[in-house]
Amino acid sequence: MIYKLTYESNACVSFDELGIDRILEQARDHNKVQNITGCLVYHNGAFVQILEGDREEVNKLFQIISKDVRHSNVRLVSEEMDEERSFSDWNMAYFDPHLHGLNKADIANFEKNLLLLADFSERLSTTVNLFWINVRKIILNLKIS
Ligand SMILES: Cc1cc2nc3c(=O)[nH]c(=O)nc-3n(C[C@H](O)[C@H](O)[C@H](O)COP(=O)(O)O)c2cc1C
Repeated sequence: MIYKLTYESNACVSFDELGIDRILEQARDHNKVQNITGCLVYHNGAFVQILEGDREEVNKLFQIISKDVRHSNVRLVSEEMDEERSFSDWNMAYFDPHLHGLNKADIANFEKNLLLLADFSERLSTTVNLFWINVRKIILNLKIS
């Protein structure tokens, strides 16, 4: 069985100060060793991340991530045990248009594509479902309650 956890948070520093490359580097190195997969989305100052793997390892990582000063207001959205992974091909997938220096039109396109992905991704698990619902929220810049 695979443990899945979705949380959301708000970035504490500006995108440039965030060092998203460093976060991803840390995530990919560590997650590979612990066999943790998932997806991280950053947009409009907010993060949504889903982590999946061994329950103890995911919880240990979540404790570390929760204390990271680069973000705050870390809220657990959903957790559950599931039959299989939803992000098995992705060590830690990451979406953010700013990383690629896209222009306004490209960013609009990116948002549209991510919304489509959110709409059409398989919704077999509540935690995955809530992950995509929250991705939708940050893309549409809705207030996350
Ligand atoms: C939004 C966010 C998501 C993160 N996701 C992960 C992750 O999936 N895996 C990970 O190892 N670290 C992640 N980190 C980084 C950890 O909080 C922590 O800095 C890192 O694990 C420490 O690595 P180090 O011991 O190599 O310095 C994330 C940080 C932030 C702010």
